[in-house]
Amino acid sequence: MSTATPINLPSGPRGSLRPTLQLIRDPRAALQGWASQYGDPFLLRALNGPVVVTGREDLIRVIHGQDPNIYAPFATATIDPLMGCGSMLTLEGEPHRRERRLMMPMFHGDRMKAYGESMQQCALDRFEACRGQQEILTLNLMTDISLEIIVRTIFGGSDLQVVSHLIQASQKLVEGASPLLFFSRKSHLSFLGFSPWDRWNKAKKELQGYLDQVIDKRQGSDDRGEDILSLLSSATYEDGQPITREHIHAELITFLFAGHETTALTLTWAMYHLHRNPAAYLSLVQELDALEDDSPARLASSPYLKATVQETLRVHPIVTETLRKLKTPLTLGEYCLPAGFAVAPATVLAHYNASTYEEPEQFRPKRFIDRSYSPFQYMPFGGGHRRCIGAAFASFEIAIVLGSLLKRFEFELVDAAPVVPKRRNVTMGPSTAVPLRFVGRR
Ligand code: HEM
Repeated sequence: MSTATPINLPSGPRGSLRPTLQLIRDPRAALQGWASQYGDPFLLRALNGPVVVTGREDLIRVIHGQDPNIYAPFATATIDPLMGCGSMLTLEGEPHRRERRLMMPMFHGDRMKAYGESMQQCALDRFEACRGQQEILTLNLMTDISLEIIVRTIFGGSDLQVVSHLIQASQKLVEGASPLLFFSRKSHLSFLGFSPWDRWNKAKKELQGYLDQVIDKRQGSDDRGEDILSLLSSATYEDGQPITREHIHAELITFLFAGHETTALTLTWAMYHLHRNPAAYLSLVQELDALEDDSPARLASSPYLKATVQETLRVHPIVTETLRKLKTPLTLGEYCLPAGFAVAPATVLAHYNASTYEEPEQFRPKRFIDRSYSPFQYMPFGGGHRRCIGAAFASFEIAIVLGSLLKRFEFELVDAAPVVPKRRNVTMGPSTAVPLRFVGRR
């Protein structure tokens, strides 16, 4: 719906540094505050460029319904130096479509089922390793589980030493990821080896070193495998040239980065809310108890477990807004936005809309059993042509890990104090590691 009508912009907060910092610190409060002060949509002049933000279903429908060719990825100049050139996050046009087509089979149908048993085994083994501890830090446990799962999925994961090196290096990369690195290119500055940029590059270099070892080993052997690394190593560009090493690095780092912290945070929130909401906990364990067994297939098709995962992602969208940069003008409601501006469906605004979700502050999985929500009301994985490629994989993984632990074991929260969302990098997570006490077998 491109148009040549004169530019007409919504209002919004003044300046760019202060609003960007507010968005980094507390995105939900900032976005809700601006929406009520300036109306929805509103204009945010963020450090990475001007963005028109909306939580309205009708406008999100317009944004996600456009021809993908009118959009470029947002903040490429900031993301490319972090991930490297060739990351799906910053590819656009035909190379983006092609890369998604190449990867899609890894995340669907039979391949997914094949991952189930290894996901479950990984969750049980990792829990066993910390079961004797007085306090189990949920976030640490879930990070260990999700990292092992993603590393095994990407690399096939038969070589234990390689798996363990990659896990440690990926963890370092995520732990060193200061939010500012993602919100402003100007933060990419070296300072005697101690700046966030220096730390990121050091961790990235270490990870790339391990990736090179794995790629070299794989390319020198007949064992091609069916993992993401094998797909990338044997893929070619349109002209038949093999994909460059830099491109493979960027894509592997993107998958390691996007594919583990997100699931670990969601699992941690799910454990937190279930142990603070006796009614929700009871409904879930009754459903799990009634299962004949906890095979991944059975867990994945358990309605209340699925609803628990959905509600967790509604209350705590890990990414609070998704962004697209306009290559041509766009009419959005009564506004006409120029090329160069970005549009952002604000997931957190849509998920807390009281006319869609009754008592949106409440954690209530049953709402996802009672009715369904449109992809413009509920979008923890974004939408349109950039919707998270790992969405089905992540939902499956979270259900298997949560279901396997809660069917077999009982826990309680160590601390009754509320846990609140806190910025990590582009992601939002819990303000504590959510310590749990292991009570016993169920
Ligand atoms: C709870 C877990 C997860 C959440 C909440 C999540 C969320 C998101 C969101 C919001 C986006 C941006 C979508 C948009 O711009 O519209 C995204 C993109 C992406 N995610 Fe996820 N994600 C999760 C798990 C995963 C996993 C497990 C993987 C890989 C195994 C993954 C890989 C990606 C990739 C590669 C993209 C870029 C897609 C593109 O630009 O075409 N994510 N994710």
